[in-house]
Amino acid sequence: MTLTKQETRVALVTGTRKGLGRALAEHLLTNGWTVAGCSREAAGWAHVAYEHHVADVADEAAMVKTVRAVARQHGRLDVLINNAGLASMNALALTPATVARRLVDVNFLGTFYGIREAAKIMMRQKSGRIINFSTVAAALNLEGEAIYAATKAAVESLTRVAARELASYGITVNAVGPTPVLTDLTRVVPKAKLAALVARQPIARMGEVRDVLNVVDFFLRPESDFITGQVIYLGGVHG
Ligand SMILES: NC(=O)c1ccc[n+]([C@@H]2O[C@H](COP(=O)([O-])OP(=O)(O)OC[C@H]3O[C@@H](n4cnc5c(N)ncnc54)[C@H](OP(=O)(O)O)[C@@H]3O)[C@@H](O)[C@H]2O)c1
Repeated sequence: MTLTKQETRVALVTGTRKGLGRALAEHLLTNGWTVAGCSREAAGWAHVAYEHHVADVADEAAMVKTVRAVARQHGRLDVLINNAGLASMNALALTPATVARRLVDVNFLGTFYGIREAAKIMMRQKSGRIINFSTVAAALNLEGEAIYAATKAAVESLTRVAARELASYGITVNAVGPTPVLTDLTRVVPKAKLAALVARQPIARMGEVRDVLNVVDFFLRPESDFITGQVIYLGGVHG
């Protein structure tokens, strides 16, 4: 959604050092938004309307600090995009508990901390948009991705309940569920496995960054204020 100079809005996007998070941040910046981002490492890129916070979304105190700092600095928080996430492919029988715990901590609890802290600010404002990240792996019940898919299914449940709890404050909460898009997250997946996954989609092609941006843009449109608690999967996949 493109803004005029007078209507600058503030978005916090998690996981902005690279991948989809960086693309999202740059997309919003191009369209006139003020963007705060976070990740565990320094951003490694810059923009006059972008500030980077070094924070692990799985660290509750760091997330509280980041969301509060952004709201204090700009006096508002219009959008939170919970993009930061971690995938791991393991046969269920061979999945170490440490891996499972980290996926829960980053994908589920990281999203929860973000929603909770942003909601406090947005409830006072009586407006806000929250967008979470799921995956088609949840809808397709993908073998080899049991814990990843489960954490994203939990994110979807959180999305639906948060949408109900926050609707009367003018806040929408939705999620996007991408198909595989070529980023560092998917680069490690064997080509044959990616091809098999793509073949299960009604529209059998890899996702592109623009496909994800399009869904995010849709959720952010002023006209989308009647749309909440929804998960939009790419590629024709449905839940
Ligand atoms: N790419 C796909 O095919 C695909 C498909 C479906 C869903 N998704 C979802 O889309 C989201 C983004 O994926 P991606 O492909 O862009 O991944 P990516 O290329 O691996 O990038 C992940 C980003 O998140 C940051 N990050 C990772 N762990 C973090 C943590 N604990 N705290 C804060 N920041 C963290 C990373 O920066 P640092 O290393 O600096 O922390 C990086 O900027 C994820 O939620 C993923 O599950 C992706």
